[in-house]
Amino acid sequence: MSEDQLIIFDTTLRDGEQSPGIALTPSEKLLIAQQLEKLKVDVIEAGFAASSPGDWDGVNLIAKNIQNSTIASLARCVPDDIEKAWEAIKVAKKSRIHVFTSTSDIHMEHMLRKTKEEVLHDAKESVRYAKNLCDDIEFSAQDATRTDKDFLIEILKVAVEEGATTINVPDTVGYATPSDYLELLKGVYDKVKGKNEDIIISTHCHNDLGLAVANSLTAIKAGARQIEGAINGIGERAGNTSTEEIIMAVKTRQDQYGVDINAETTEILETSRLVSKLTGYPVQYNKAVVGKNAFSHESGIHQHGYLRNSMTYEIMTPDSVGQEAKIILGKHSGRAGFKDALDKLNIELDEEAFNSSFDTFKKLADRKGEIVENELRAIVGQVETSSSEIKLVSVSVNSKDQYASARVTLDVHGKELTEEAEGDGMIHAAFTAVKKILETDATLIDYRVESITKGADATAEIVTIINDGHNLKQGRAVSTDVVQGSVESFLNALNR
Ligand code: KIV
Ligand code: ZN
Repeated sequence: MSEDQLIIFDTTLRDGEQSPGIALTPSEKLLIAQQLEKLKVDVIEAGFAASSPGDWDGVNLIAKNIQNSTIASLARCVPDDIEKAWEAIKVAKKSRIHVFTSTSDIHMEHMLRKTKEEVLHDAKESVRYAKNLCDDIEFSAQDATRTDKDFLIEILKVAVEEGATTINVPDTVGYATPSDYLELLKGVYDKVKGKNEDIIISTHCHNDLGLAVANSLTAIKAGARQIEGAINGIGERAGNTSTEEIIMAVKTRQDQYGVDINAETTEILETSRLVSKLTGYPVQYNKAVVGKNAFSHESGIHQHGYLRNSMTYEIMTPDSVGQEAKIILGKHSGRAGFKDALDKLNIELDEEAFNSSFDTFKKLADRKGEIVENELRAIVGQVETSSSEIKLVSVSVNSKDQYASARVTLDVHGKELTEEAEGDGMIHAAFTAVKKILETDATLIDYRVESITKGADATAEIVTIINDGHNLKQGRAVSTDVVQGSVESFLNALNR
């Protein structure tokens, strides 16, 4: 292992699975492990074999099936845990026993109910015992960041003397800040690792203060060469360091970290989605690297810059993590973004139609937020068939029992005219008011409302076919308001 290689140790299947409500079956764990192998993480912590028969099965299934990554199982400093871990992982091509004990005063007093001497003794005996079974031993000092520093160094030295090759310094409760974690890790490097090339210093940071990734990265500067994390940052309480954020930070900021990693970054999104699907834990939209919006651009200024040169607003390419870049069409989008979306759909409009479509789009986006492809096509379809002689100013309707009334105001060649009418339903009443204003006998031949998007705020396309006494004419409109859209569609037909 070169001095400049950073080991990615993924604990999605152990610490990640400790998130409230997550209980993966052995076969689900295997699916995730296989995807983690595609992602080329170096170590997969498959579980805590002694914690339950089901977890043992999951660890064992993974150990049997994974080819390249090292398979680790967690074990307390108890012989039975160590034996169960070893039994589960010994079939793996590469296996690791991960032994841990708590070392902070508060944990030793209230959880272990043991003295420092007893804890030191347990660690020594357990690492020695594990080393007799397996070559690759990791030792973790749980709650290291709240542990008396001299005691921490002492116990880590004992673990190394007994054969541990990876020394983990967990920030179990997410208490550290980058500067104090850096100091702590420098001390561990100097006093425990020294010039011993076989020893790897590892981080395992929890995210209680939102600092897990920052703390882990800082540790690289203190000589840490293993980072433990979980996909999507899942784990106890506020979770763990996000494996995918570490991978991309190290890749993107080589100038800062200067270490190599084996990860296949293009598998990141797929891994994130699989973990989210099988754990039932959603990924927040704005989550770094894997969030739905991580490569989406909404505001007009951003879209404009991005379309000229993607690097104006992107520090990594979306395809490098398996994502796609997206221009989100919404109320903040400008003409450049709108034009780009039309270009992608191969829609060409003359200047007047473009301006008119853009106005319709802005009005709809104001109500709706994001405008999707179908809506865009419908907007253009509406504009292509409309002229602006008669416009809807307002429509209000009232419906009670079998009786409905409508009040409609139209702008007819620059003059506002209002009429009220009753009808058999709101749409009928509104159409009757329009006919009164325009003094037309046009009859409705067909009327269709089709929802273009799903959900309570769905956009509908409303198509009307009328007979004006001479010809059949078709009108279209796109709206989130069916009554308003219906009147616009009716006018669209009359205008033709
Ligand atoms: O957070 C922690 O300290 C742990 C150890 C078992 C490594 O998960
Ligand atoms: Zn943990």
